[in-house]
Amino acid sequence: MNVFEFSIIITLQNNIFSGLFVGQNLLTLKEVDSTNNFLKNILSNSKPVPEGTVIMAETQFAGRGQQNNQWHSEPGKNLTFSILLKPTFLAVADQFDLTRAVSLGVYDALCPILGDQLKIKWPNDIYYGDKKLGGMLIENLLQGQQIKSAIIGIGLNINQEIFPDGASNATSVKQILQKDYDLRFILAEICNNIEAYYLNLKAGKIDFVRNTYLNRLYWFKQNKRFKAAGTEFNGTITGVKENGLLVVDSNNKETTYNLKEIEFLNNK
Ligand code: BTN
Repeated sequence: MNVFEFSIIITLQNNIFSGLFVGQNLLTLKEVDSTNNFLKNILSNSKPVPEGTVIMAETQFAGRGQQNNQWHSEPGKNLTFSILLKPTFLAVADQFDLTRAVSLGVYDALCPILGDQLKIKWPNDIYYGDKKLGGMLIENLLQGQQIKSAIIGIGLNINQEIFPDGASNATSVKQILQKDYDLRFILAEICNNIEAYYLNLKAGKIDFVRNTYLNRLYWFKQNKRFKAAGTEFNGTITGVKENGLLVVDSNNKETTYNLKEIEFLNNK
């Protein structure tokens, strides 16, 4: 199926994006299954897609989240978009640096609005206090040991006021500040900030990106409650490995975990 058959395209625009390439080619869709799927389809079906292309949707009817979860977002109220990057300079082993750069870009865009209760919850959730404001689904297309292209899907709750019962941990900018925000303004800020961190990565400033990520991390260096392998325990996040594994110290013993292996236990 031609990707344009299942989407209504509203506009092509590029006027409020001050960066060099992220957001310069912006496609806004009225409705799509998932902006990540849409981007993946145009990558495989059509002429080369410029790096920095952004696909934004008013409504996603099959939005995808981490770990095969669905991503629900009230139509027209929030940001649901995907960015195409081509980080061919990044080795597959270092792909978590892209997660760091993108998380930091989103963080820096929102921080002037929300202040320092904003955190990045490992690996790439955006938290305000103990509530989730948004997250990302990064899908890398690999070629040998290199990343040929990366589809960066981002979902952020901006103007949604009410969340379904099953999403009790969700919050939005509107719930926090009691004010509506212009989606395109926040999108432009996010694109500009992601581009800045991405260019830092490209320029080899890996330590800067890694250290900044650690400094924005939720529960970093705090004694908290976790669950792993069916057992609850107290521990302290002491770092994140180059490859993205979380390092937690418990009783002076450091253990590394991947996303499926550890749960953060709030309110305990
Ligand atoms: C998460 O589980 O926290 C990640 C959510 C990612 C949702 C975004 S919305 C835009 C893009 N398209 C998708 O289908 N998913 C991502």
